[in-house]
Amino acid sequence: MTSSDLWDEDAAARYDTTSAEMFAPHVLDPAVDFLARLAGAGPALEFAIGTGRVAVPLAARGVRVSGIELSQPMVDQLRRKVSAEEVPVVVGDMATATVSGEFSLVYVAWNSIGNLRTQDEQVRCFQNAARHLVPGGRFVIELWVPGIRRFPPGQSAVPFAVTDRHVGFDTYDMVTQQGTSHHYRRLDDGTTRYGASNFRYIWPAECDLMARLAGLVLEQRVADWAQTPFTSDSESHISVWRKPMDSVGS
Ligand SMILES: C[S@@+](CC[C@H](N)C(=O)[O-])C[C@H]1O[C@@H](n2cnc3c(N)ncnc32)[C@H](O)[C@@H]1O
Repeated sequence: MTSSDLWDEDAAARYDTTSAEMFAPHVLDPAVDFLARLAGAGPALEFAIGTGRVAVPLAARGVRVSGIELSQPMVDQLRRKVSAEEVPVVVGDMATATVSGEFSLVYVAWNSIGNLRTQDEQVRCFQNAARHLVPGGRFVIELWVPGIRRFPPGQSAVPFAVTDRHVGFDTYDMVTQQGTSHHYRRLDDGTTRYGASNFRYIWPAECDLMARLAGLVLEQRVADWAQTPFTSDSESHISVWRKPMDSVGS
């Protein structure tokens, strides 16, 4: 049983359109470059692979990519792009599901680890990543830094998109580290569609502790896929943890 929201058929069918800016070459190419370099000659495993936004171009670079994904409708969308032979996927929970084989790279893109909404499950996700890695292999996450610094006293929402087609804002509960992203999208027929997704936010330091619990060691932290240095003003991070060469099975 997972705490994650389940992405249904409707959300899956609209995903590539509503996330179009995340498919833009200037967003995707640096991510694929970064991950291809870390995978090297070895296979890669994407947790929460979705419709294959990252996995499909990574596989096109010659990296053997597998996935774990909770939502069958998201996998159905992926299957419109690549076959199960090209990019095999286990439908299951990234905190617990097992894929056969060992990987030089396990990664979770675009804040998806936050879809696990308990600390226990997030810890288990790190442990599951470590379990799938060869010694010397790497676990990479792309995650925002919680936008709490933007909250003046008394304000309960932080906008992240304000255009004539899309208004999006996050609300946070500082006690439980739970958050919700709210989206109001104007449709072509003039009506507005509301959607929300829930997450548990984590700071980089909490990620490091989860990695340590999984026997992983921090190797690199940058602000984005283009490897901009990570500073106290960074709003996101790409973190790379390594499974030590001398680690025994976890
Ligand atoms: C924002 S989308 C990201 C998809 C893809 N990684 C990308 O970058 O486009 C989040 C994905 O996480 C999946 N997901 C949520 N909870 C999950 C879980 N516990 N295990 C595996 N996948 C999960 C959702 O079904 C959805 O496909």
